Amino acid sequence: MRLVFLGPPGAGKGTQAKLLAKEEGLVHLSTGDLLRTAIARGTPTGLKAKSFMDAGGLVPDEVVDVLIEERLREPDARAGFILDGYPRTLAQATALARMLAAARTPLTRVVLIEVQDERLVARSSGRRSCASCGAIYHVSSKPPRREGVCDGCGGRLDQRADDREEVLRERLRVYREKTAPLVAHYGAQGLLARVNGDLPIGDVTRAVRLASRGAAA
Ligand code: AP5
Repeated sequence: MRLVFLGPPGAGKGTQAKLLAKEEGLVHLSTGDLLRTAIARGTPTGLKAKSFMDAGGLVPDEVVDVLIEERLREPDARAGFILDGYPRTLAQATALARMLAAARTPLTRVVLIEVQDERLVARSSGRRSCASCGAIYHVSSKPPRREGVCDGCGGRLDQRADDREEVLRERLRVYREKTAPLVAHYGAQGLLARVNGDLPIGDVTRAVRLASRGAAA
């Protein structure tokens, strides 16, 4: 499987990508996670990305294209991958198509996780992520056993800086303007599968599993 997970901020792309990647032995590539790691390490990429991310805008295409191209060249990606949060513009989709054509590994499916806007704010404002292993929780829909502590590794749970409501509203605006056109783009290529992301996490997982294999969800 070579998949793209598409959807607005807070739709559940990361939650579902982690589950499916583990189940199917795929590499989970989240540009958001790669960029946050680069910022935490103070790398040149992190320094370039920080101001765009803090403001809820998109990091320039050439920065994320290089990150993905380098990561897709690593041997583990040959077994299959889930791209979570990439591509996010038509220019990134074109760059990705070029990379995958060169490797003769075209996408097998693009899974769109659709969620009503009013839920997205509640999901993002309640999100907590493990600073050590990246596991994703939610204060009400997926709480950890001990408040502030990761069930899996005991790491500290943090709130993302860009989950403040005013930044989230900007991320949603940018999604509609720059990323939503990818729905028609991949629809025209016959690659798109839509999943109702408004359902509880387990129901969405079942639908994503079917959609990723190409069956109607
Ligand atoms: P990124 O980290 O990719 O953020 P995003 O796409 O905005 O998506 P999120 O991570 O916010 O949400 P998600 O859909 O993964 O939801 P999650 O599973 O966590 O990008 C951040 C920034 O980096 C961007 O703004 C941009 O600046 C930059 N960037 C990244 N990629 C880029 C690119 N390609 N080009 C340029 N710039 C780029 O779930 C959310 C919450 O809801 C969690 O708490 C979860 O527990 C809960 N939840 C999930 N599913 C359900 C459910 N079914 N029911 C109830 N609760 C649920």
